[in-house]
Parts: sequence; C-alpha cells; structure tokens
Amino acid sequence: MLQITEPRTLKVPHGARTLSLIDITNEAVELQAFDNHERVWLGRDIERGLTAIVAIHNTALGPALGGTRIWPHESLEATLTDALRLSRGMTYKAAVTGVPFGGGKAVIMTDAKTGKTRALLDAYADMLSALEGQFYTGEDVGLSLADADFLRSRVPNVTGTTAGGSGNPAPVTAQGVFLGLKAALAHRKGTERLAGIRVAVQGLGSVGWALCGQLHAEGALLTVADIDDAKVVEAKAEFGASAVAADAILAAEADVFAPCAMGSVLTEETIPALKAGIVAGSANNQLATHADARLLMQRGVLYAPDYVINAGGLINVAAELAPGGYDRVAALAKVAEIPETLTAIFRRAEAENRPTNDVAAALAMERIRKAGR
Ligand code: NAI
Repeated sequence: MLQITEPRTLKVPHGARTLSLIDITNEAVELQAFDNHERVWLGRDIERGLTAIVAIHNTALGPALGGTRIWPHESLEATLTDALRLSRGMTYKAAVTGVPFGGGKAVIMTDAKTGKTRALLDAYADMLSALEGQFYTGEDVGLSLADADFLRSRVPNVTGTTAGGSGNPAPVTAQGVFLGLKAALAHRKGTERLAGIRVAVQGLGSVGWALCGQLHAEGALLTVADIDDAKVVEAKAEFGASAVAADAILAAEADVFAPCAMGSVLTEETIPALKAGIVAGSANNQLATHADARLLMQRGVLYAPDYVINAGGLINVAAELAPGGYDRVAALAKVAEIPETLTAIFRRAEAENRPTNDVAAALAMERIRKAGR
C-alpha cells in the first residue's frame, strides 16, 4: 500500500492558488513497478482538481520524453503503478528505436470526459513548469491535441502540438503499427498481403481507428470492440467490421490480435483464450508481466513487443525536438524502419529460443549500458 508520510513539498505560487509538487521517489521504491526510476513526482492542487504523477525512469540517452495520460484509476497507487510502467516502457522504446531521449510518463488521475477542466490543465501546466524542463510531454489516452496546444501555450516542453509542432502523433503511431503488423505477417506467413487476413482490433480511439482505416483499405477483415458503443457502430459502417463485446475481442476468431486500448490485456488468465497467432497493436504495456511473453511463445503466438511496434508517435514528437526542427519526411522514414527492427527481433528470438520481448529488452539495455548509465 502506498503511503506518503513525509512529503518534501515545494510550494509553487500561482496567483492566489497553490500547487504542491512532492518528490515521492522514496515512497515509490516500495512498488514492484519502481524498477530504478530516477525521480517520481506527485503534483497536487486540490482547488483545481489535479492529482498527477510524473515518473522519470532513465535519462541515460537524453531528457525524459513521454505522453500524459488522463485516466480515472481507482487509487493513487494504481495511478503511480501505471505511470511507472509506462515511463519504463518509454526508456526501452527510445533506446530500441534509437531516438536520443530518456523515458518518462505522466498520469493525471481523473476521468477525461468529466474531470478534464481548464483549471486542471492550468494546474498541470504549472506542474510542468515547476519541473523546469525535466520532462517533455505530449498526447496519450485522454489528452487531446487541443489540450497539448493549451499546455504548449503555457510551457515550452510540450510536443505533438499544432503551431510549430508535429500535430497529433496518433496517425504516425498507427502507420508504424500497420507496417509492423505486416512485418509480423511476413515473418509468420511469408507474405505481408492483408487481403482476407482477419484482424481483431481492441480499441477504436485515435490509433485504433487510423489502423482500421489502413487495414481495411488493403482488404483485411476486421472484428472490433470498444467500450464506446458509438465508435463500434461507426466502425461497422465505415469498415464493414464485425463487432464483439469488449470482453470477447481477445477470443475472437482472427489471425492477428491488435490491442489498441489500455494495458495488461495479456495475462496468464487471458492468454489461453487468445485465438490469433500474432499480437501486433499499439497499446502500451500489453503484457501484465514480462513473463507473459514466454506464455505467448509457448503457445506459438508471435508477439510484436509493444514499445517497438508503437514507436511511431515517439519518433514523430522526438523529431520536433531535433536541432533542425521538425522534418516530417525524415520522421516517416524513421517510422518505416520499424518493420526491419521487428524482423531482426523476431529472427533473433527464434534463433535463441527466447521470447521476443526478452530480445527487445536486451537490445534496449545494451544501448543504455553503452551510454554509460
Ligand atoms: P484513445 O484514448 O484515443 O483510444 C483508446 C480507445 O480504447 C478508446 O476508444 C476507448 O473507448 C477504448 N477502450 C478503453 N478501454 C477499452 C476496453 N477495455 N475494451 C475496448 N476498448 C477500450 O487512445 P490512443 O491514443 O488511440 O492510444 C491507444 C493505446 O495506444 C494506448 O495504450 C496508448 O498508450 C498507446 N499508444 C498511443 C500512442 C499515440 O500516439 N496516441 C503512441 C504509443 C502508444
């Protein structure tokens, strides 16, 4: 149980209001997900409704960069665990992808539909500002392009924005997932042809929807699920998709399962129900635990490690921070390298009889170690 007993609080004045910025690194150590984080911050502004975690995992390769998620976790501990797992994933993603950034992530504990007020975003901008450039951020689940634009108007270290930025990273993430999914097909079936291939897509948000569009255009047969019924209705009309209940998508008859919603969908309990022979989707932290990849391997499922296949968004926002400014052509060229990276991981995993995420993690660690930390 997370206990914040002696917070070291830094008061950040903002007009008549007060934000508390609390270094909770020592408390976070107690959690299993901690994994050597460099720094963990809790931002609290009761008046403006903000409870946010900023987790900075590892900055060996560069400053921490990662999106801000807004999600109504049931407790502060769950919010912190989510932030820690996501932030660690960003370290690995940047290292495997070869972008000069470290891993960080923020999670704001509220329901984006009801709790995302201008006052809350204002308080979060103060938190980012108080972190004095320790953390670069952008969109994730619950934080829109308009929100990123608002934050950018208040603080410089916000990416994925409209003015002078690279825009919403989701379409670029979807492009990387699309190419990665085809690489997995090619590896498994000897052809990346999508016509007649059945793909079960979980989550029809920014990435899932764009991915469906690309898959449908090349003749894939879609089965979809979302907790938002309106999106499902739209997908049936737009892509001729079949729909199943949210809790039935993993067991849908399919060649590929594309998780594009939240994390921890592949667990010891759910993996036996999986019908698809390939898992290739955008969601971060698809596996409940690292060991679940071995279960997938034992069942003959080819798993495209999440932080490798979904790196398109990171590549795009990182390109904004490049010395020469954002170059979309160069960013897309780097996204086009995702299939090659994945294929190398698939081959090495097979040759060494290891789960694909072990190989991906080893690759990331090699690069971080070379950087000397
Ligand atoms: P989003 O918020 O636009 O979409 C998420 C969708 O999943 C929503 O439509 C939501 O209703 C649905 N959903 C939530 N729980 C569900 C459940 N149990 N079953 C079915 N559907 C459910 O988010 P976005 O941006 O599309 O991201 C999706 C995933 O991809 C997230 O895990 C995110 O962290 C990851 N990701 C996103 C990137 C981006 O560029 N947006 C970059 C890399 C990873």
